[in-house]
Amino acid sequence: MEEITGEADYVNAPEGPADKKAPRPDDTKKGSAPEGTVDTKASPPGLRFVLPIAVCWIILLAIMGLRIYFTSELSEDNAKQTAEILNLTSRIQELETRKNLTVQYDNLTQAYTVLESNNTNLSAEVQELSKLNQQLETWKNNLIRQIQDMETTWNELNISRAQWSINSYCLGNTDKKCQPCQKGWDLTEPSCYASSYLPYPGWITWEEAQEDCRGNNSDLAVAHDSEEKEAINTNSFGLNGYWIGLRVEDGKWKWVDGSDLTNSSWIPAPVDGHCALLYTGRDIWSSVSCDKPQQWICQQKALSLSV
Ligand SMILES: *[C@@H]1O[C@H](CO)[C@@H](O)[C@H](O)[C@H]1NC(C)=O
Ligand SMILES: *[C@@H]1O[C@H](CO)[C@@H](O)[C@H](O)[C@H]1NC(C)=O
Ligand SMILES: *[C@@H]1O[C@H](CO)[C@@H](O)[C@H](O)[C@H]1NC(C)=O
Ligand SMILES: *[C@@H]1O[C@H](CO)[C@@H](O)[C@H](O)[C@H]1NC(C)=O
Ligand SMILES: *[C@@H]1O[C@H](CO)[C@@H](O)[C@H](O)[C@H]1NC(C)=O
Ligand SMILES: *[C@@H]1O[C@H](CO)[C@@H](O)[C@H](O)[C@H]1NC(C)=O
Ligand SMILES: *[C@@H]1O[C@H](CO)[C@@H](O)[C@H](O)[C@H]1NC(C)=O
Ligand SMILES: *[C@@H]1O[C@H](CO)[C@@H](O)[C@H](O)[C@H]1NC(C)=O
Repeated sequence: MEEITGEADYVNAPEGPADKKAPRPDDTKKGSAPEGTVDTKASPPGLRFVLPIAVCWIILLAIMGLRIYFTSELSEDNAKQTAEILNLTSRIQELETRKNLTVQYDNLTQAYTVLESNNTNLSAEVQELSKLNQQLETWKNNLIRQIQDMETTWNELNISRAQWSINSYCLGNTDKKCQPCQKGWDLTEPSCYASSYLPYPGWITWEEAQEDCRGNNSDLAVAHDSEEKEAINTNSFGLNGYWIGLRVEDGKWKWVDGSDLTNSSWIPAPVDGHCALLYTGRDIWSSVSCDKPQQWICQQKALSLSV
């Protein structure tokens, strides 16, 4: 077993490191012959060292080359990434700015919408107002026309009233001379009186009597004092009663001109629904239901025919 390993060592000797070659115990124990053959085979001693060194150099160079290659490659990558990061940062800023702008735009849009709606409302209101104004203008014009019409009518009315007065107070008389009272009315200064002295079927209620007087530019007769009271009495005839302008209103005797009865001894106490009835020659008037048909006596102011 030992010999085999020794032989194996011998064969492997040139391949081993240079340091082991010098002290060789195995070589001296064996014969010189085999030594001599070994010497002739390793005759160029420099060659033994050149090969490993070259290999080492090659490896070293390769490592250095790779290192240089990778170093440059890595730094290039690094720079690229840095640039990219910078680019991204700037783009983020840009987006941020854009986002701010978007928000501002939204705000502006919103404000604009509100303003526009306000504007729409305003213009709607303006339209409404101008419509109203037009209507008012129309009404005003209508009123002006109505007033003008009324003035025209009034002028015509004045003329026709003047004509009516001439006819009633002057031309109706047989001598065609003008009188203070219309034809058929009796003068007791300062008033004219007309009594409906007629048979029963022509009699009417107090309201109807007042209407008849109104239709003849007069009222039912009124007496504020004893003279006027006597004047009414003087202008009535016959045995039957006459309505005068006195009736109960709100529990009080009231004249048709709105004044109160001044002398309460002229008629019994007021009863609701009663009116004053005059009998010729009697001092005290009767209090009678206004719905009873009676004769009646009207009164109007007499015209003044002298200055
Ligand atoms: C960032 O990159 C984009 C493409 O991704 C390029 O168009 C742009 O020019 C770059 N900007 C800078 C500042 O490098
Ligand atoms: C975006 O707006 C915010 C506040 O609204 C502000 O702090 C920021 O600086 C703005 N950014 C840019 C890029 O203008
Ligand atoms: C947008 O409007 C809101 C309130 O409506 C306000 O708080 C915000 O500051 C506004 N932003 C800008 C950029 O004007
Ligand atoms: C809209 O109009 C109202 C009154 O009509 C006013 O009070 C309000 O301030 C207005 N709003 C804007 C945004 O102009
Ligand atoms: C405009 O008018 C409408 C109704 O006519 C109302 O709903 C709306 O709030 C108004 N807008 C403004 C800004 O006043
Ligand atoms: C019409 O008569 C009234 C009095 O009844 C008078 O005031 C008015 O001035 C008269 N009108 C004209 C146009 O004469
Ligand atoms: C009032 O006038 C009418 C005609 O219009 C006449 O019939 C009536 O007798 C008059 N009344 C009096 C009290 O004169
Ligand atoms: C009321 O009338 C009576 C009779 O007509 C008369 O005697 C009396 O003096 C009058 N009283 C007043 C206050 O006028």
